[in-house]
Amino acid sequence: MSDKPSPQTGVADDPAGRHGHIRSFVRRAGRLSPAQEKYYAEMMPKIGIPYAPQPLDLAAVFGRNAPKILEIGTGMGETTAHIAAAHGDIDYLGVEVHVPGIGALCKQIAERQLSNLRICAHDAVAVVRDMLPENSLAGVHVFFPDPWHKARHNKRRLIQAPFVSLLASRLKPGGYIHCATDWEDYAQQMLAVLSDESALLNSVAATDSANGFAPRPAYRPLTKFENRGLRLGHGVWDLVFIRR
Ligand SMILES: C[S@@+](CC[C@H](N)C(=O)[O-])C[C@H]1O[C@@H](n2cnc3c(N)ncnc32)[C@H](O)[C@@H]1O
Repeated sequence: MSDKPSPQTGVADDPAGRHGHIRSFVRRAGRLSPAQEKYYAEMMPKIGIPYAPQPLDLAAVFGRNAPKILEIGTGMGETTAHIAAAHGDIDYLGVEVHVPGIGALCKQIAERQLSNLRICAHDAVAVVRDMLPENSLAGVHVFFPDPWHKARHNKRRLIQAPFVSLLASRLKPGGYIHCATDWEDYAQQMLAVLSDESALLNSVAATDSANGFAPRPAYRPLTKFENRGLRLGHGVWDLVFIRR
């Protein structure tokens, strides 16, 4: 089986085709723009981390001992690149399966000359489970994960108890998991699941007027899409939980 992402699906093959979990994404046939294709080809050999079912030496990957933050689902990469550019003292590992989005992020990395960002083009559940050592991360970002609106699809949501427990185990004590969503039902599910995880503590007291939701941390920029939604009166919920 090859670990080379298929341009059709964006997903590298799992060894023997076993996933062992319900996938939080669908295989999208997405065409890369010429620029996305160019930067994917140019940058991934330099900054791509191929999936392998063995622990990753994060310090060796980035060549230094800086705090490491995992971002799951970098999408088109604007937020990811913005945060990495603003925090040169922190290393970021973005995990995404959508190849055009990865191509777009590669373009940003090249143009902004970011040396603190790496990309793994694979299912984040397998990456966290198989590659990230326990107590290795300073933080985890999960911004606007696919909401899977329909009740019969809710099981595909990324933020579920077993995965949150796995993520918590990869955080160092004092590390954080930051989720954001514009879908209220998912926000409530996130709040319930994160609150139930005994290894995590809400950064916001439950008695606060925000009912356990956090103010948007300054490092997370407002996206164009989010700005438009907010102008239309739609909500956005941030959740920040700390590893005990
Ligand atoms: C709704 S988009 C949000 C993208 C971005 N975070 C933003 O705020 O614009 C969710 C992204 O998560 C990615 N994704 C979903 N499940 C994933 C998984 N298990 N591993 C890696 N990426 C995943 C999807 O491909 C998609 O690009």
